[in-house]
Amino acid sequence: MRSADLVVAGCRELVTCAGPLPRRGRAMRQIGAVENGWVASFKGIITFAGTEDDFHAQVEPEPGAVTLDARGLMAMPGFVDAHTHLPFAGDRAREFGLRIQGWTYQQLAERGMGIQTTVKATRAASLDDLLGLTLRRLDRMLLSGTTTVEAKSGYGLNLEDEIKQLECLRDLTALHPIDIVPTFMGAHDIPPEYRDRREEYIRLLVDTLIPEVRSRGLAEFFDVFCEPSAFSLEETRILVEAAKAAGFKVKIHADEFVTLGGAELAAETGAASAEHLIAVSDEGIARLAASDTAAILLPGVSFFLMMDKKAPARRLIDGGAAVALASDFNPGSSHINAMPFILQLGVFTLGLTVEEAVMATTGNAAYALGRHETVGSLEPGKKMDLLLCDVADHVSLAYEAGRNPVRTVIKNGRVVVEDGRRSPR
Ligand code: NIG
Ligand code: FE
Repeated sequence: MRSADLVVAGCRELVTCAGPLPRRGRAMRQIGAVENGWVASFKGIITFAGTEDDFHAQVEPEPGAVTLDARGLMAMPGFVDAHTHLPFAGDRAREFGLRIQGWTYQQLAERGMGIQTTVKATRAASLDDLLGLTLRRLDRMLLSGTTTVEAKSGYGLNLEDEIKQLECLRDLTALHPIDIVPTFMGAHDIPPEYRDRREEYIRLLVDTLIPEVRSRGLAEFFDVFCEPSAFSLEETRILVEAAKAAGFKVKIHADEFVTLGGAELAAETGAASAEHLIAVSDEGIARLAASDTAAILLPGVSFFLMMDKKAPARRLIDGGAAVALASDFNPGSSHINAMPFILQLGVFTLGLTVEEAVMATTGNAAYALGRHETVGSLEPGKKMDLLLCDVADHVSLAYEAGRNPVRTVIKNGRVVVEDGRRSPR
């Protein structure tokens, strides 16, 4: 018999996403849905997920085990948000106003706004300021069911301020239940003081920032914005090789607005993921499909920038790429932190089935972060990161468009959101 100190009983529908990860092609739709599902965990680790009958046959709860009556809610794994720019200061509401009047994101960037606006504000902020801002954002994410989040630096663009952002993430790991996967993105843009001598900034990244951040153990991934307005394909290659040599796993912002070949480069260099891909080429799709590199699509960007052009999600999935969806939460191009809404955008704007969108925001997203052994599905041996949603079934996660269905969040076997509110710390 398996033991349990926590039991979630009577889920109207239980979506486990159990099975091998990543899921590709048709297999993405296999989300393991069962009626009247029960889930048990012991010391924060799942020991059982399945039907009531199997539960009674296989699980013997410890004396004093807590049983949570799901009261007919739907259960699923916690969301994994595999791409965010979380620790920043300031906002870009004024620039959003200009965009509504017809300015484009690129036009703002060319006039020294965009990412540079946030760089100024983030450099001016203290570590304490950043901690306060980021902690509130994590709380909001938790209320929407995010239990694991990737978070990038990239608004410091010098040693001191990049490290400040990464130290903020490190400190929050101890303060907040969400698991944070830290990424160093000093290659987000060329800082203003290096505008006319970009090679020197690239040297600084290769010789100083990459080794220094790595030796301090502050980040697991390295990320670079491969785009004509930021880093060219050749510059990206140099940076990726340096990051790999230093021991980083690699993510690439690839083919977001302009088809440069970032997707091909990601597959070729064995990057963990290529992200955005709104302008990915046919060749890029084929290369990703034939590789272990995940394709992380960020439908919040096309939505938030009011672009007609969308990432070719159907062709990526049907071609066999390991597709995930993430929020890209940031102050400029996707000021969206709610994964239920991202799941809905995946269905409404990218043409995913609801099952695919569920897998893309849980199991496949965990794969994209190299966390699929521990999170992303509800099966024995994984963390008890579970959501209870007040929808009839998983289809209604999208059908009830615009609504946050998450009522209860269990993280590592602890109830951290109850009835839609943050539990007392
Ligand atoms: O993923 N593309 C580059 N970086 C972000 C935007 C960051 C910003 O606008 O502050 C993105 O879209
Ligand atoms: Fe991004």
